[in-house]
Amino acid sequence: MKHVQRTNTAPVKGGLAIEAQGLVKTYGDNRAVNGVNLNVGTGMIYGVLGPNGAGKTTVIRMLATLLRPDAGSARIFGHDVVKEPQIVRQLIGVTGQYASVDESLSATENLVIFSRLLGLGRAESRLKAAELLEEFGLTEAAKRPLKNFSGGMRRRLDLAASLIAQPPLIFLDEPTTGLDPRTRNQMWDTIRRLVKTGSTVLLTTQYLEEADQLADRIAVIDHGRVVAEGTVDDLKASVGTSSLHLRVQNRQDMENARQTVEQVLNVKSNISAEAGRITAPMGDVDRVTDLLIALREAGIPLSEMSVQKPTLDEVFLTLTGHGVKDNDSMASDKLNNVEGVIL
Ligand SMILES: Nc1ncnc2c1ncn2[C@@H]1O[C@H](COP(=O)(O)OP(=O)(O)OP(=O)(O)O)[C@@H](O)[C@H]1O
Ligand SMILES: [Mg+2]
Repeated sequence: MKHVQRTNTAPVKGGLAIEAQGLVKTYGDNRAVNGVNLNVGTGMIYGVLGPNGAGKTTVIRMLATLLRPDAGSARIFGHDVVKEPQIVRQLIGVTGQYASVDESLSATENLVIFSRLLGLGRAESRLKAAELLEEFGLTEAAKRPLKNFSGGMRRRLDLAASLIAQPPLIFLDEPTTGLDPRTRNQMWDTIRRLVKTGSTVLLTTQYLEEADQLADRIAVIDHGRVVAEGTVDDLKASVGTSSLHLRVQNRQDMENARQTVEQVLNVKSNISAEAGRITAPMGDVDRVTDLLIALREAGIPLSEMSVQKPTLDEVFLTLTGHGVKDNDSMASDKLNNVEGVIL
């Protein structure tokens, strides 16, 4: 392979932010990471999707120079993680790395300390801390000591701390697991903003919906291996179509409704109709408009219409031949019906 000598650490525009080949990490006889290849372009959000124990955190730790790979290699903006760890560390931020924040100090004090450590002046540090606390909705809690923070507040402060320097590459390890929907949405907005302002983000998640919302490309990882890679649309296409769910207001309309769905969507075999509900595979989304018009014209009022996308469980079943629960039964509670979209 040709090696290009670089004199500065600035990320190369249009190059790869992450290039990993054959990464392996073994614990005893557990091959936690079993030959992972990753190519992540600059300026994108890259999602690593996988259930508990798949190896996501271990991959991040190796890429972030926190753990030495047993085999394989990885480069961050062209810099080898094993041979040039100091340079790599200047280019990355990892959430969770500030776990040693001082519990007795307030959120403001912690952020000011990080800013000062990064070389910002006193006034600038105060300003930066105030800005970040405002952005993360923590202004009211700014003076409280950290030991009184909830899990979600802590997570937000953690991300805020990693934004002081806004490094070119940011690793976010399950940034929204356990957050309430509102906080989770705020987190998503912040992550999108990071990329708009020039950073590349690699995030791990157990939620297909999160990958769908945020990631330009994703790698699905299972038992330490990448089992699928591509855009979310590629992935969904490989897994199958969404299904359409309808509920009629009046039970006596059921048979008529079923026939209308059958005719308009042209799906005879896979349609199910029971207890006032009709479920049909939805290949061509555009046909749904025709269907709604046809139902209206036939005088069939609906009480509910929704589109159900494949769940993470279904994705895994298709890609790996087993559901996520085989990895770790603890994961199951996080994964039920992540994708119900009411139209
Ligand atoms: N320090 C360690 N010592 C021994 N085994 C480890 C260690 N760290 C991770 N493992 C094992 O390696 C495998 C991968 O773990 P890892 O934490 O990378 O998974 P993950 O995908 O991040 O899971 P989660 O979604 O639960 O965070 C698991 O089987 C785990 O038990
Ligand atoms: Mg993990």
